[in-house]
Amino acid sequence: MSEPQRTLVLIKPDGVRRGLSGQVLARIEAKGYRMVAARLRTADAALLTEHYAEHAGKPFVAPLIAFMSSGPVLALVVEGHRVIEGIRSLCGATDPTTAAPGSIRGDLAADTGAPVLENIIHASDSPESSAREIALWFSSL
Ligand code: RTP
Ligand code: MG
Repeated sequence: MSEPQRTLVLIKPDGVRRGLSGQVLARIEAKGYRMVAARLRTADAALLTEHYAEHAGKPFVAPLIAFMSSGPVLALVVEGHRVIEGIRSLCGATDPTTAAPGSIRGDLAADTGAPVLENIIHASDSPESSAREIALWFSSL
């Protein structure tokens, strides 16, 4: 039997602003995963630059940081077997226009014409990202 994993989920400012945090969390819990930490905060540019270090130098980083710091983010640590893969699957593709119906992005987001894709949710994409991101957002865990 595999060990449970943990992953970092962020309900992005568009999700919090649109009142969708509860719906997103309900989908995560209904799938069978468990929330082990939660924190609502407005992230600053320093935290977000570190969070998105893998994208340093890409043209969408500045608008992405502006969007992600535009309001509160609900940061969650979520636990379960193969949860990293499982939550990425619940999220759907990055572009909400083409994300599959049934996924969080496919059902709850659309292109708004904003400078970056506003797609409701972030989830860690590997065990290495998850460990790094949980340490960054929840330094006491
Ligand atoms: P995330 O990191 O937020 O879970 O999303 P992801 O892995 O599916 O996508 P990633 O490639 O890591 O991009 C991070 C976030 O940047 C925004 N983005 N906008 N062309 C664009 O306008 C564009 N490309 C990326 C999205 O908010 C994406 O989730
Ligand atoms: Mg990513």
